[in-house]
Amino acid sequence: MGKFQWSKRLQDLPPYLFAEIDRKKGELRKKKVNFIDLSIGDPDILAPKQVNKVLYDSAKIKANQKYALDQGKPEFKKTIKSWFKKRFNVSLDVDSEILPLIGSKEGLVHFPLGFVNPGDYVLIPSPGYPGYRSAALFAGANAYEVPLLAENNFLPDLDKIPLKVRNKAKLIYLNYPNNPTTAIAPLSFLRKVVKFCAKYGIIIAYDNAYSEVYFDKKPHSIFEVKGAKEVAVGFHSHSKTFCMTGFRVGWACGGSELIKGLAKVKANLDSGIFSAVQDAAAYALSNEADYVNRLRKTIKNRRDVFVKGLRAKGFKDIHADSTFYVWAKLPKGNKSSIDFAKELMKKGIVATPGLGFGKYGEGYIRFALTVDVKCLKEAINLL
Ligand SMILES: Cc1ncc(COP(=O)(O)O)c(C=O)c1O
Repeated sequence: MGKFQWSKRLQDLPPYLFAEIDRKKGELRKKKVNFIDLSIGDPDILAPKQVNKVLYDSAKIKANQKYALDQGKPEFKKTIKSWFKKRFNVSLDVDSEILPLIGSKEGLVHFPLGFVNPGDYVLIPSPGYPGYRSAALFAGANAYEVPLLAENNFLPDLDKIPLKVRNKAKLIYLNYPNNPTTAIAPLSFLRKVVKFCAKYGIIIAYDNAYSEVYFDKKPHSIFEVKGAKEVAVGFHSHSKTFCMTGFRVGWACGGSELIKGLAKVKANLDSGIFSAVQDAAAYALSNEADYVNRLRKTIKNRRDVFVKGLRAKGFKDIHADSTFYVWAKLPKGNKSSIDFAKELMKKGIVATPGLGFGKYGEGYIRFALTVDVKCLKEAINLL
């Protein structure tokens, strides 16, 4: 043991899934083993060219090199407002209902610090994005896994949440289009969840990071439901929409009371988003709709090729309805997703075992379509 022990909160955290996978990939690289990386949702596609130019030009301006306003640049917030109105037909107040973030993860993970007390319950989808569990644990809360099952279209069955848990729950994380299952939530479910959460006094943290990565059905915002602003905060991201993962920019929006709480947490934690990044992000929202259309076509093409290949290799239960993931049930005879992922690694493919997303992810494997079609075909051949 070293001289200094990790805090209890850090000790209690499970290893962060993608950091673990990164470590494994590092080992393979060290051994000079070639592999196709289908593990992390970091698109291989470049961000829009003009966005880089805006970033570069804006970075040269003296005012932009100083501390940014921690509530976000008004021009960026106005752009978010217009985009939201156009995309979801939802009106947001620039001053009180929009808060730029250093990527959606930052807001998602910090949010409970503003609203959750030690001992409260935080409901997390299982399988689900691993950051939700960390967020609950950092706030000293109990993370309660709500199953997302195939037979329920990967929507939580709210009626099955025990009364004791409902009464102690302060927050539920929901994420549609869903990582990892690729499910999209219908408006009828969103109505049901708003009603349920209003009844039990539970805040909805609606993670909409993949709102623009769809193929057929256009995903909804929770705020299309009447009364949602009373109980929900939404999280959006430039990472997936514009392949701007490294820029670290997104936003939270929704009920002013919830935004105010998150803003107070952030005012004490960070000092705003680099102003040039906010200018680039605003530019992307206003000008890069064609880029997003092309991105969707590219991902759809990859998905079609990969899903066809998986079927040919004996995978039967495959989900690929949105996002750039494919969520596949392990072929017959395989039980452990970790063992299966290890076998894939031996064949030269890195994918993410379902168990890494929570206990209800066991029995599945997630492939990220973040390489080109040629590489995906190679991966299929290696399977
Ligand atoms: C479901 C989900 N939410 C949020 C994020 C975080 O995205 P970012 O912080 O880059 O906006 C991710 C990243 O993979 C994700 O999959």
